[in-house]
Amino acid sequence: MAEHEHAHGCEHAHDCEHAHVHGAGAEASCRCSSSSSELVRFSVTAPDDLLRRFDEQIARRGDVANRSEAVRDLIRASIAKEQMRTPDEQVIGSLTMIYDHHTGDLTRRLDEVQHDYTDEIVSTMHVHLDHHNCLEILALKGRGERVYELADRLLGLRGVKHGELTCAATGQSLGL
Ligand code: NI
Repeated sequence: MAEHEHAHGCEHAHDCEHAHVHGAGAEASCRCSSSSSELVRFSVTAPDDLLRRFDEQIARRGDVANRSEAVRDLIRASIAKEQMRTPDEQVIGSLTMIYDHHTGDLTRRLDEVQHDYTDEIVSTMHVHLDHHNCLEILALKGRGERVYELADRLLGLRGVKHGELTCAATGQSLGL
């Protein structure tokens, strides 16, 4: 297998991915109309039970044909969400995290990050869900740039299984 393997997508309604191996002198060809950007194939590893549940979700949905399409939707949604950010404005929001407190020194690292944002963290709630899992909810207020930075740092820590930042610019109505 040549090391450059590209999948060329097309604009057909069905998911059509043609893998071409660009060998020496081999010209890639695709009958489908070419899309604006080249598709890149990458591999993802995931726990099998997680993947099984994802596949079940895909099967229930009528609008996605396969895993690739479902993952592309997730990536687009993630990027779209980030584009909604207003770093220069005052924001209020909440950050919800679920993590296993047995994961390495995660608890200490979560603590360390939070101590860098004492102006932005208004309140925290910690619930010990079961023997392993903790739920932590942070109420946040401050300049968007700082609040997003805090969320990215916390959710980027290894061992945080679920994380969700819900945030809105306050505008003038709250006088912040
Ligand atoms: Ni706990």
